[in-house]
Amino acid sequence: MSVVSNITVKVPGTTANLGPGFDCIGAALKLYNEFNFTTLDAGGLIIQASGIEAAKVQTDETNLLYQAFVKLYQHIKKTPPGIKIEIKLGVPLARGLGSSATAIVGGLVGANYLAGSPLSELEVMELAIAMEGHPDNVVPALLGGCRLAATSSTGWEICDIPWHRDIVPVIAIPNFELSTAEARRVLPTEISRRDAIFNISHLGLLLRGLATNREEWLKAALQDKLHQPYRQTLIAGYESVNEAAINAGAYGMVISGAGPTLLALVDITKAKSVETAMTNAWMAKRINSIVRSLRLDTQGAVIL
Ligand code: HSE
Repeated sequence: MSVVSNITVKVPGTTANLGPGFDCIGAALKLYNEFNFTTLDAGGLIIQASGIEAAKVQTDETNLLYQAFVKLYQHIKKTPPGIKIEIKLGVPLARGLGSSATAIVGGLVGANYLAGSPLSELEVMELAIAMEGHPDNVVPALLGGCRLAATSSTGWEICDIPWHRDIVPVIAIPNFELSTAEARRVLPTEISRRDAIFNISHLGLLLRGLATNREEWLKAALQDKLHQPYRQTLIAGYESVNEAAINAGAYGMVISGAGPTLLALVDITKAKSVETAMTNAWMAKRINSIVRSLRLDTQGAVIL
């Protein structure tokens, strides 16, 4: 049997929460990180990064991708090989687009393949969720599409969420960062029954809205009481960008993951005008941003 010593794993960025689905729903986007792994017979670790914001990537044992790589070998009770990892970044860091999830999924998938695929996709997914602490980025990063994750008595149930082809996410990425840890610190640990009911009903409405592209459902569905009211103040210009997106015809706007990226859901016919409105609203606050309509990735992590 030949031993594979070089592979490339491509993993999509993701948007989590989609408003009312805090910590349980997320979608993969056509925005990618690529990770090339080459085993080193002499042992050791070499990490090189290129692409957007590459200078910010840790290149020692603290690198999250490498930690995920080692985690898989620990899980199968084997010693990880010496490894050279080349990272090509397309997903900006600390912007709420699942860059950490791409690293966790990339490291686990790469290690699993180099180890001869001892773990099933489900087992890799469970390890990824345990590492990230919540499923809403790592699940779509691994599987693609829009996914809902719920715990069951034996682990996780993962459900693919139908997404009408005319609904386009417009992603507005500002030029400042927000750490997930900070954006989670501001959240209350307990919520009222009224807020729980609000989110349950709006998430149900969102799922039907995504399947049907029905305007009035989507306009109501993107509201949330669990995280967005507490996080808005961490994102300069939130109110203006929200107002501009809605005035330009978006169904609504949400915080992508823990932010600071903002995401408007729009009918395809409105995508260009919403892109322009969001860009200009942030510009008026002297904040540069990259605003793009991105389709959903349907494949998830792939080995090239
Ligand atoms: N659901 C997570 C959050 C996504 O909003 O904190 C970020 O990792």
